[in-house]
Amino acid sequence: MSALPGSPEATATVGLDSSPVQPAAADLPPLTEQTRLEAREIIARYPVARSALLPMLHLVQSYQGYVSPEGVALCAEELGLTMAEVGAVATFYTMYKRRPTGRHIVSVCTNTLCSVLGGQRIMDALSADLGVHHDETTADGSITLEHAECLAACDYAPVVTVDYEFYDQQDVESARELVAALRRGEKPLPTRGAPLTDFRGISRQLAGFNQYDDRAAAIDAPGALGPTLAGLRLAGERGESAPEMPRSSSSSSSDAAAAEAAGVESAKRGAPEPAGRSLADQNDGTDTPAGQPGTSGQGPGKA
Ligand code: FES
Repeated sequence: MSALPGSPEATATVGLDSSPVQPAAADLPPLTEQTRLEAREIIARYPVARSALLPMLHLVQSYQGYVSPEGVALCAEELGLTMAEVGAVATFYTMYKRRPTGRHIVSVCTNTLCSVLGGQRIMDALSADLGVHHDETTADGSITLEHAECLAACDYAPVVTVDYEFYDQQDVESARELVAALRRGEKPLPTRGAPLTDFRGISRQLAGFNQYDDRAAAIDAPGALGPTLAGLRLAGERGESAPEMPRSSSSSSSDAAAAEAAGVESAKRGAPEPAGRSLADQNDGTDTPAGQPGTSGQGPGKA
């Protein structure tokens, strides 16, 4: 049976939520002049104002816990957009929430690899414990639970994130303990990346306002790269390497030029590709620059 558009089941399946923005609750903290000043600070970072919309929506969430109608209006006013244009963006990305969230967002990856390794069992157990389903919030306001599509950390499956920080290789019991700690007001350290704050805190970080003391921002779990490099290690032990890429004679010169331009040293030398990239190779353009927020699924951050 197919799920209705906008229903939690449909959102979980396709990652899109066409439901309308929920009206503000009476006790929602209002957006203030300070919010507007910070929105303008974000806009000033971009050569084209509308480019600031995504971090501005995170800023709204950092104040109100979701993209409220008031927040949509503020973004539209400051950027000279219609509310429909802002709404179109806010409804496209699942990180923008259309209804008030709990203090923490717990995302359980139920995509293929995580699911076969226990992700769906974790989701089912947390759902039963908390008495909520996908995209619902516990009555005490502590937890919003959601399914997530692949969180780009398949080598650490099954993966759970809290406020987008990674808790790798979970099982039902460890996930239950994690959520119980969150409900007690604790903030267990993620496996890697930045320390846990809460949904509003990480929203402020995503808006570009640093939440962390940079000296203590990153966490490196012991042996964190182990799963990522397992294939490389096994290939090395077995003496295996990837076959050379076939080239057509007519395109070889242009391919070589393109590869050289892209910095692919092995193509420039005509040597076969190694079985995998070395650790040193991984520093070519994939690291988050120092002092900037980390990106998900890219291995441990650097202190
Ligand atoms: S399938 Fe879960 S992180 Fe990729």
